[in-house]
Amino acid sequence: MVCARTASAPLLAAALVAALAVACSLVSGAHAAAEQEAAGAGGNDLRLRQPPITRGLSFDFYKRSCPMAKSIVRDFVRHAVRKDVGLAAGLLRLHFHDCFVQGCDASVLLYGSATGPGEQRAPPNLTLRPSAFKAINDIRDRLERECRGAVVSCSDILALAARDSVVATGGPEYRVPLGRRDSRRFATPQDVLSGLPAPTSAVPSLLDVFHNHSLHLDATDLIALSGGHTVGLGHCVSFEGGPDHEPRLPRQAEADVPGQGHRRAHPLDVRTPDVFDNKYYVNLVNREGPFVSDQDLFTNEATRPIVERFARSQQYFFNQFGVSMVKMGQIRVLTGDQGQVRRNCSARNPGSADGNLGLQWSSLVQTVVDAAAESLGF
Ligand code: HEM
Ligand SMILES: *[C@@H]1O[C@H](CO)[C@@H](O)[C@H](O)[C@H]1NC(C)=O
Ligand SMILES: *[C@@H]1O[C@H](CO)[C@@H](O)[C@H](O)[C@H]1NC(C)=O
Ligand SMILES: *[C@@H]1O[C@H](CO)[C@@H](O)[C@H](O)[C@H]1NC(C)=O
Repeated sequence: MVCARTASAPLLAAALVAALAVACSLVSGAHAAAEQEAAGAGGNDLRLRQPPITRGLSFDFYKRSCPMAKSIVRDFVRHAVRKDVGLAAGLLRLHFHDCFVQGCDASVLLYGSATGPGEQRAPPNLTLRPSAFKAINDIRDRLERECRGAVVSCSDILALAARDSVVATGGPEYRVPLGRRDSRRFATPQDVLSGLPAPTSAVPSLLDVFHNHSLHLDATDLIALSGGHTVGLGHCVSFEGGPDHEPRLPRQAEADVPGQGHRRAHPLDVRTPDVFDNKYYVNLVNREGPFVSDQDLFTNEATRPIVERFARSQQYFFNQFGVSMVKMGQIRVLTGDQGQVRRNCSARNPGSADGNLGLQWSSLVQTVVDAAAESLGF
């Protein structure tokens, strides 16, 4: 177990791994060049592979109502990430959790929602970064001033901030379809448990969860999106419980992070923890994946070839990541007159709590949870 591990890794082994890594990167450099050429020649293929855009979303949704929206988010994220690179990981993960719990509807931001801030007791304890929640609200304030009112939805801000975080840490540029609306519905603890895959899951159950969210999400998407773990941290408690799983984090990585015991955190990508690149896949090939859910992508024979391909060609990974993020970013989006554009990303607009037009209560439990939240004044 990585967090309680004693120093058993001999230096010799570490040196060998380092030497292999150099050799590998030399080889992968050559592959990357070859693949880049191929990608250049077959540029049309990439365009054909762009996923369909949900009705109601478009790339120029705010062209008239808030023409500066995209550049305001981009500038904010670029500056904030320069000060705190961890924020990039926080924002990327926030968008993922938003989309995988009840759809990309910004329910993750609601104070009192099972994913949101103020719900530390929700299972599982999500360790979403407070700085990421704050950044979304700060961006929202800026947009409100610039565009006179609540024009840009909080769910669109999440999608843009995630993309800009990827770009700010060296990852690929991709276009984000816009026009999502924000939900009035809180996520329940059940939504969180069934929606988010566990770090102890193997490929078949990961695929089930991804398929269940969208029939468009396939094994390639699972592997590409897991590449989000090329940045950010995991806490000790997340690494526990995997059978025979012992990630080989360099001792250096352990020394670098603050905290003790279960609250210690480790970089998810042991090679380049703060850079959005394809080293995550190189780690998997070297059996240094952070969680079972990552390492099994290489262990499983069906998914291994794609992992190897991403490890060889960063360009190939980057292209696929953009495509897969656009797919993920459209999971059960609200459009048109569904939902609302929240004035405060952390709270539903006043008087809108039971005006659930276009939405259905999924269960009695939902109603009870919402009623409880209301009575607490959320
Ligand atoms: C495939 C299933 C996935 C599982 C089981 C999973 C699980 C986890 C876990 C357990 C952590 C560590 C949490 C902690 O201990 O603090 C984590 C962190 C993270 N995940 Fe995932 N994740 C998955 C997919 C994704 C996807 C699709 C993305 C984005 C595209 C993503 C982005 C991140 C990021 C950026 C972090 C670091 C957050 C930070 O440093 O604040 N994950 N994930
Ligand atoms: C959840 O995480 C917070 C912050 O790390 C911690 O203070 C709290 O004790 C955790 N709760 C549970 C139930 O693990
Ligand atoms: C599939 O998603 C629905 C919500 O859309 C959820 O209620 C159900 O529990 C999920 N099933 C699985 C197997 O994840
Ligand atoms: C936004 O909503 C949250 C949660 O209800 C609240 O704590 C906060 O003060 C609100 N912010 C503004 C600017 O009204």
